[in-house]
Amino acid sequence: MFDFTFYNPTKIVFGRGVIAQLPGLIPAGKKVMLVAGGGSIKRNGVYEQIRRALDGRAMVEFFGIPPNPLYETCLEAVALARAEKVEFLLSAGGGSALDATKFIAAAVPYAGKEPWDMFYDWSLVPADPLPLGCVLTLPATGSEMNGGSVVSRKATKEKRYFLSEGVFPRFSILDPQTTFSLPPRQTANGIVDAFVHVLEQYLTYDVTAPLQDRQAEAILLTLIEEGPKALAEPENYNARANLMWCATNALNGLIGCGVPQDWATHAIGHELTALYGLDHAQTLAAVYPGMMQHSRRRKREKLLQYAARVWRLETGDEETRIDAVIARTEDFFRSLGVGTRLAEYNIPKEAGRLVADRLAKQGRPLGERGDLKSQDVEAILQLRA
Ligand code: NZQ
Ligand code: ZN
Repeated sequence: MFDFTFYNPTKIVFGRGVIAQLPGLIPAGKKVMLVAGGGSIKRNGVYEQIRRALDGRAMVEFFGIPPNPLYETCLEAVALARAEKVEFLLSAGGGSALDATKFIAAAVPYAGKEPWDMFYDWSLVPADPLPLGCVLTLPATGSEMNGGSVVSRKATKEKRYFLSEGVFPRFSILDPQTTFSLPPRQTANGIVDAFVHVLEQYLTYDVTAPLQDRQAEAILLTLIEEGPKALAEPENYNARANLMWCATNALNGLIGCGVPQDWATHAIGHELTALYGLDHAQTLAAVYPGMMQHSRRRKREKLLQYAARVWRLETGDEETRIDAVIARTEDFFRSLGVGTRLAEYNIPKEAGRLVADRLAKQGRPLGERGDLKSQDVEAILQLRA
């Protein structure tokens, strides 16, 4: 096992009606800014619960954070937070509202000229961002229990992220009932996103970390069991609750302790979203089967373990089992209603070269061994045309 440091300060408050606990979670006397998306929280009763819980508290609101939150929109929120002397940020919604909130928290005290620079140099993220908490209504990203913020910039068609200990939520309120109103597309996106988060940290190479392997497999098996139930019965509390807790555990750092991590599919996917506007999970469903196919030699041992332990594929020769597990994974994404081919999203053939060039310019090593080259990225996308 590799050496590691694990840090996670987020308090999770989970269950029915837990939004009512907000007053005890936000320090009294702090002026709050509520940060939200396009209005789903007004339609599903979450907004009303928050207002009731925080009745009498000084509060301003910023609505309008779009999916794949835009830098340009976030800057408007930063201006409001500064003008109103806001002291605490409360995100309500999915990963986009929360990632925007984390960025706003860092940008408010940011002293430099261009807060976007934080995405290029993480050391620029201030050590004292505004404190933040969240009411999560979409299980998917794990943002509710990590220090990551992913933001897109319209002007330059970039999608970038930073990781910083200062922007972990102080608390995250997870009431599975708030997810009953999710449209099937978002429920399915969440299942795929969480599933691929696990694969990015599990399907690499063996370093004798059986606990992390089994934790990862437990999440994958639970997503396979509970995901379809949540889609078939949107108000099945236990299915929603299990999905929510799976998504949090898929990216709160724990299963990634001491093991190699890949994340190349995410890097490719972020470029596809930046260029063509696909949902984050759509990019993952389209790219990941190609990653497995292209990396079948470098990921061989783990592919066979994943095949046996998650999909019970234990007979036949090794190549047949690997073919079968790639097909099973793709079928699972498709069974949730998420397209797995780039053509389904009208992605042109030249996307492969374009994405490969953009990633090469960023200069970050790709893959669990950092050895994926531009031609690999192009080949993976060619496999998915
Ligand atoms: O904007 P509103 O009106 O709230 O509607 C949203 C949005 O249209 C809607 N929604 C959310 N909860 C709902 C609901 N509709 C009905 N009922 C509810 N309970 O769903 C739509 C999508 O929301 P969004 O927040 O964009 O989705 P998600 O949570 O999947 O977040 C995606 C963003 O997170 C980033 C992605 O790249 C993408 O930008 N990620 C963040 C990560 C992190 N911080 O650790 C890791 C991930 O890999 C990912 O990159
Ligand atoms: Zn993701």
